[in-house]
Amino acid sequence: MSTTPTLSVMSLQAGYGDVRVLWDVSLEVAAGELVCIIGSNGAGKTTLMRCLSGLLQPSAGSIVIDGRPMAQATPADFVRAGIAHVPEGRRLFSAMSIRDNLLMGAYLRTDKGAIAADLERIYAMFPILAERQRQDAGTLSGGEQQMCAIGRGLMAAPRVLLIDELSLGLAPRAVELLSETLRKVNAAGVAILLVEQDVMNALELANRAYVIDHGRVTKSGPAIGLASDPAICEAYMGLS
Ligand SMILES: Nc1ncnc2c1ncn2[C@@H]1O[C@H](COP(=O)(O)OP(=O)(O)OP(=O)(O)O)[C@@H](O)[C@H]1O
Ligand SMILES: [Mg+2]
Repeated sequence: MSTTPTLSVMSLQAGYGDVRVLWDVSLEVAAGELVCIIGSNGAGKTTLMRCLSGLLQPSAGSIVIDGRPMAQATPADFVRAGIAHVPEGRRLFSAMSIRDNLLMGAYLRTDKGAIAADLERIYAMFPILAERQRQDAGTLSGGEQQMCAIGRGLMAAPRVLLIDELSLGLAPRAVELLSETLRKVNAAGVAILLVEQDVMNALELANRAYVIDHGRVTKSGPAIGLASDPAICEAYMGLS
């Protein structure tokens, strides 16, 4: 196994104007790993994901992808480096067709044959998207929209898929199906960094986890260990 992590974040600081949100955040995602980030509302999870896809410039620290520093990189640079971001709230183009939303994910690619093959792969993964491919994305249910958002991310052919809130507002069946699909995507070699408010589900899916509290990493380790940590159960699962 390679010793260079696919994604490496060192002492990251970021915020909005004078307000600092992330303080000295460091984390790593190795090739093929499934890593989750747990934290309360407002902890800075989305802010971190926005830094990791070039939507927000950190004020200090570094992001390195496959050994390449991403200082001053644009969102397109992050996509080219192998990062795809499934944003909080899905952010589909609701008046565009499902097919066109999926193809938007491939906007930087020129390998037409491989793009067509990947689109078929997404349709096989989520047959409902194939059936409705000509419909506007806005007509999809919440769970179907999340399928479309994940499909759009995968159409970038990423090495790391960032997912901000997989299950928020979705029915348990939809969450189960999406989780199962992510397992397969991960098993096929795509690393996943998942922000998830359903802590139990996140720790079941992930190999490792980081806990972020008030913009700082307060705990990290194998998911199985954190799932049995009484402090985590009490703080994030309502159990004690
Ligand atoms: N565009 C913005 N301008 C100013 N402050 C912001 C902006 N976006 C987020 N914040 C603030 O930054 C802090 C972290 O927000 P962030 O969205 O990263 O948290 P989060 O962990 O994703 O929360 P949630 O679980 O609710 O999604 C919060 O205090 C929030 O109010
Ligand atoms: Mg958020």
